[in-house]
Amino acid sequence: MNLILFGPPGAGKGTQAQFIVERYGIPQISTGDMLRAAVRAQTPLGIKAKEIMESGGLVSDELVLGIVKDRLAQSDCDRGFILDGFPRTIPQADSLGSLLAGINREITHVISLDVDNDEIILRLSGRRTCSVCGKGYHIAYDPPKSASVCDACGGNLVQRDDDQEATVKNRLSVYDQQTAPLKEYYEQTGLLRHINGQGSIRDIQQQIGELLEGCSGDHS
Ligand code: AP5
Repeated sequence: MNLILFGPPGAGKGTQAQFIVERYGIPQISTGDMLRAAVRAQTPLGIKAKEIMESGGLVSDELVLGIVKDRLAQSDCDRGFILDGFPRTIPQADSLGSLLAGINREITHVISLDVDNDEIILRLSGRRTCSVCGKGYHIAYDPPKSASVCDACGGNLVQRDDDQEATVKNRLSVYDQQTAPLKEYYEQTGLLRHINGQGSIRDIQQQIGELLEGCSGDHS
């Protein structure tokens, strides 16, 4: 299964990817997580990406493609992968197609999580992430057992810099202009499936599970 999880900021891509990783044993490839790790480590990539990410803009296609190419070459992707937050532009989608064709692989599923903007702002303002293991929470919708402490590893929960309301509004506008056109792109391939992303986390998990179980085709 070579899956793209698609949707606006805060749609629940990372949350649902955790469930798919557990159920199908394939890795989540989150370009946002990889870029944040590079920023923390102050690598040359992280230094270039930091300011753009803080403003809510998109890092250049060239930089992002480089990290995705390296990640897909790792052996844990041999049985499949979940792309979360990539591709985000038409050139990224074209390059992904060429990259996969070059290794005799292809995208098998594209799932769009559809959520409206008011809900997104509520979700992102309440999102907290573990500073140690990266597990995500929401202070009201998916709270940890103990405030500010990660259930999984005991790490401290923090708010992302780009979850401030002004930055979220810019991320949504960038999404509308540069990323939303990918829905039409993948509609044309016949792979795109929509899920209403506004139910409970568990209901959406169930819908994704049913959709993936119901899809025939190559799961390698
Ligand atoms: P990235 O990290 O990819 O951010 P994003 O796409 O904006 O998505 P998010 O991580 O904000 O949201 P999500 O959909 O994963 O939601 P989550 O599950 O956490 O990218 C960050 C930045 O990196 C970009 O702005 C850009 O600068 C750069 N970048 C990354 N990839 C790039 C690329 N390909 N090209 C160029 N630049 C790139 O859920 C959100 C909250 O809601 C959580 O608190 C969660 O608990 C809660 N929640 C989830 N589901 C539900 C539900 N059903 N009901 C209630 N609450 C829910």
